[in-house]
Amino acid sequence: NIHIDTQNPGVRVSPNLYGIFYEDINHAADGGLYAELVRNRSFEDNDKTAEAWKTYQGATMTLVNSAKKQLNRAQKNYLEVNFTGKGTSGISNEGFWGINTVKGRTYKLSFWAKGKLNGNLKVYLGCNCGKKMFAVANINEKITNKWKKYTAEFTATNNHEKARLWITSEGKGTVDFDVVSLFPPTFNNRENGLRPDLASMLKALHPKFFRFPGGCFVEGQQSPDNAFRWERTIGPIEQRPGHWNVNWGYRTTDGIGFDEYLQMAEDLGAKPLYVVNVGIWHGGFTPVDSIQPWIDEALNALEYANGDVTTKYGALRAKNGHPEPYHIEYIEIGNENNQEDPTQQSDQYYKRYQLFRDAILAKYPKMHIIGNVVAWGNDHPKWNSDEQVELLDEHYYRNPAWFANNFHKYDSYERGKHDIYVGEYAVTQGFGVNGSLDAALGEAVYMMGIENNSDVVKMASYAPIFANLNDLKWRPDMIQFNAKSAFGTPSYYVQKMMADHIGTRVLHVAQDNPYQTDLEAKLVSPEKSKLGFATWATQASYQLVSVNDKPVDQKYTALKGDWHHEDNIISQKGNGESCLNIGDMLVSNHSTIKLRARKDSGAEGFMLVF
Ligand code: AHR
Repeated sequence: NIHIDTQNPGVRVSPNLYGIFYEDINHAADGGLYAELVRNRSFEDNDKTAEAWKTYQGATMTLVNSAKKQLNRAQKNYLEVNFTGKGTSGISNEGFWGINTVKGRTYKLSFWAKGKLNGNLKVYLGCNCGKKMFAVANINEKITNKWKKYTAEFTATNNHEKARLWITSEGKGTVDFDVVSLFPPTFNNRENGLRPDLASMLKALHPKFFRFPGGCFVEGQQSPDNAFRWERTIGPIEQRPGHWNVNWGYRTTDGIGFDEYLQMAEDLGAKPLYVVNVGIWHGGFTPVDSIQPWIDEALNALEYANGDVTTKYGALRAKNGHPEPYHIEYIEIGNENNQEDPTQQSDQYYKRYQLFRDAILAKYPKMHIIGNVVAWGNDHPKWNSDEQVELLDEHYYRNPAWFANNFHKYDSYERGKHDIYVGEYAVTQGFGVNGSLDAALGEAVYMMGIENNSDVVKMASYAPIFANLNDLKWRPDMIQFNAKSAFGTPSYYVQKMMADHIGTRVLHVAQDNPYQTDLEAKLVSPEKSKLGFATWATQASYQLVSVNDKPVDQKYTALKGDWHHEDNIISQKGNGESCLNIGDMLVSNHSTIKLRARKDSGAEGFMLVF
């Protein structure tokens, strides 16, 4: 019996539950949510070779880095191609592990070129050998000796999930190419937009806020040039230099740039939450007494997003196609930068925080400010400063049991001091590394605890979201995809379920029937086998009661974990995931195994294995 108290309602559920955390990790942007189909479109991925490109039927290609002849200062390299004039020759691009070609879909191609060619260019989506064509267009304009943008559209007549983009000619000559770009239809038909299936999966989560651009992507690695620098990510794509996403091992075009992030928030109906760099990148930092340029960069970004068209950056936003302000209301000062490590003199997070906060509030007094607390390995991070802060960003990557056991975590948090934003959380350990039902259940229990404590936990976002299955740097991620299709892990569906059914008020619930913990499993074994079981609880006790209703004499051997055996009770005091051999006991086909999980011990579940 479950009793729901409707007379004495509890806390109001925060209107900011739940949000999403977006970071360019595992090719979340290029080769993922960003709908661009050409890989290494600007030839900047490698200064020595034209990665992802190959020649066709005798054509040759040379990667050129020439300050004098480049398209513009943002584009360092371009590709010089020699067409043979002996039959058809050319080049092709492999896309991001294939270009998904869908019958009836219209593709938009654009590229910049200069040179001299005795003939026309023919462009098409075709098979790997170049002989079969699925979507074709001719470029009838002559190539001239000045850089010029050429465009074409073609509609596919066949399906092929691993097509290549081909640029060919029957003519002879030399043509230089740069910023070769191909787009399918995009989410909400935006120019330079998003892949519809992936964006729709985000939309289905009804996110209340949209955190961007990360994550470590905010900070970068090795050099401040590898951090997200918003001013280098706006305007026409040929004006964007892109940068090395060293944290996650590839170059990004910044095709999803500051405008696209803000546009995405608008299209998703979510409040943008921008995370700014405080002058710290992985491996280096700007001393705290010299961080004014970083503060200015953050203020300029806010003016670009929120300023009216009479301001310098507001006018630039309008010129780039969005006259209305985007209305950023939430800003986070740094990502995981409060290390509180006395050996890290670089950090001085509280000082940086105070300088950023004061500068931002001076211009935007209503801005909601989020601060960093220690992110890794600390279950009780604290704000050890007198500086005023509205929200603290806690991060938890743990096993399913940790999440389930932390249902009551926030019951005891002090009220009225600062609120909590659980900015990153996910099961990353235990049985959940690829996304699993166990992981999703742990997360769901934790989220219910968040909702119950909505008066202090105001915001939460699962992290990270996306992974291209061809380049997994971080697991698990709740939306996984390749060039053609995408699926959500059980964690995705928990996020969706919780968002779909978010209430407005917490009601107290009591139950008068103790949880039944006796569990039975019927093993269907093809032959006699040894019995074992596995669990993911950190502290739990189990009792093997009977096999085919006959009491058993237990002998146990620990396989993995830290098991104890006493009075027919087996207990685990290990660290999460663990398994046990139930001695030499042989069970035959169709045996009924009765095993009891002791509810007072923290046991949550187990799997019988043989
Ligand atoms: O979500 C993956 C990474 O985990 C984020 O980039 C970082 O903030 C955290 O350490």
